[in-house]
Amino acid sequence: MFGSGVPLASIPESAAEDGLTNIAANAIVDLGNASFFADGARSIATWVTANAAQATRCTNYGQSACVDSFLAWFPASAFRRAVDATEISALRKLFDDLHGSYPYDYAFAGVVRAVLLSPEFLYRSELTNGSSKLMTPAEIANLLAFAITDQSPDATLLAAVQTADLTNPDVREQQARRLLKSSEQVWQRFFWEWLQMATLYSQGNEVGLDPALVKQMEAEYRTFVQEVVVTQHGTLRDVMAASYSYMQPELAKFYGVTHPGTGMSRVELDPAQRGGLLTQGAWLVSHGKRGRDNVVRRGMSLYKQAMCHNALTPPAGLDVQAVQMKLVGPNATVRETLNARDQTQPCGSCHHLADPIGIVFENFTSDARWQTTYADGRAVDSKSDVMDLGSFDNAHMLATALVDDPMFQRCFVQRFMHFMLGIDLGAAEQVAWTQQVHERLQATGTSLEEMLVSIVRHPAFIERPAGNSP
Ligand code: HEC
Repeated sequence: MFGSGVPLASIPESAAEDGLTNIAANAIVDLGNASFFADGARSIATWVTANAAQATRCTNYGQSACVDSFLAWFPASAFRRAVDATEISALRKLFDDLHGSYPYDYAFAGVVRAVLLSPEFLYRSELTNGSSKLMTPAEIANLLAFAITDQSPDATLLAAVQTADLTNPDVREQQARRLLKSSEQVWQRFFWEWLQMATLYSQGNEVGLDPALVKQMEAEYRTFVQEVVVTQHGTLRDVMAASYSYMQPELAKFYGVTHPGTGMSRVELDPAQRGGLLTQGAWLVSHGKRGRDNVVRRGMSLYKQAMCHNALTPPAGLDVQAVQMKLVGPNATVRETLNARDQTQPCGSCHHLADPIGIVFENFTSDARWQTTYADGRAVDSKSDVMDLGSFDNAHMLATALVDDPMFQRCFVQRFMHFMLGIDLGAAEQVAWTQQVHERLQATGTSLEEMLVSIVRHPAFIERPAGNSP
């Protein structure tokens, strides 16, 4: 709104649900964090008055007319909708009242602060218009924009609020397909959060990776998601199992794959070794640890987060390492340890589900290099039978089977909608909505774009319970 150079307001992240941030119920301004918003608004307002020529878009800053021309665009821009005359005159009155006792700059900054601290700016409302369950056109535009681009509605979408009917699914579809071109941030954040990769930097440090390579792993992930999902309109299958990636030469060398030249480039992978998100450093290292194997970390992460079995928690007060040591001793192979754990109760009741998934990734070291023997010289044995999924020799095969697995697909749809809408879809009519979206995902060969469009077209996308009304 104010051009470049504006000071950043540092707002603490709100609590996540299933690793997903931006959850409506948690994204609230309360006594605990209000000072961050107040401080941010104050520093931005002060900056605006100090950089008035750029920030206010007035040539006559210092005069009364500038207040009016500022109010003609700023509140509408901040509230991401048309504002009415009452709202404008209330802000004008605020300026006049303040200017009665304080200098012009202070009164002007007061108006900026009032707008930046208004719930109309800080919150995206889904209150409907009070008389029906339908969200207002401006609310729909805001939902579309934030859900697809992580940003406020652009000028085209704001214009559509006036000129088109956003309650018409065809109109929403048209806008959604247009906005998908700018959707990379949403997909990058979604896969990152869904597959719990926030630990990349801490685990990279723990396993002794060069921080420059950890950064390149994040860059690989971001470029891959942008290219596959946005540029190529790819599928969930592509994300999980594409036999190529994007990386810089240093990372290619570290992985042991051939890079075509310099800079960030597409790199072809041997599908017997790598392919898809789960074979990239960002995921492997996030769920790696110092030590010999990563069976439990990687297996549990997939089983819990990516397959939605999040209720599994290790029994409190049980020293699992000690029990395990008693079961197999210190010299057991990874396979022997896994078998003992999976065949012993209570351990097996959880571990026999997740360990067979985790062992498939044993060809990757904790720092994501390919290995066929462990540091102690023993051969890696990563073959696995995974219940209900099949038998696998390598991670790429497992990822392909996961994409075909309805349970995995359902979890993906459920988490994506939770993430996109900021609410967990628990109620019966919403479950029907997620089922329809899942069917669309299946029918389109797991197209992410078609999945998103089907979410946006659905009547439930623009309806909220009557109790939402103010
Ligand atoms: C209720 C389910 C459950 C039961 C029962 C259970 N575990 Fe676990 N266990 C987990 C989960 C989930 C984790 C992963 C925690 C994490 O992600 O850090 C875990 C972690 C571990 C780890 C740590 C691996 C690592 O690399 O950090 C070991 C070892 C382990 N369990 C062994 C056992 C043994 C031995 C038993 C039986 C005495 C047992 N577990 C019982 C669910 C269970």
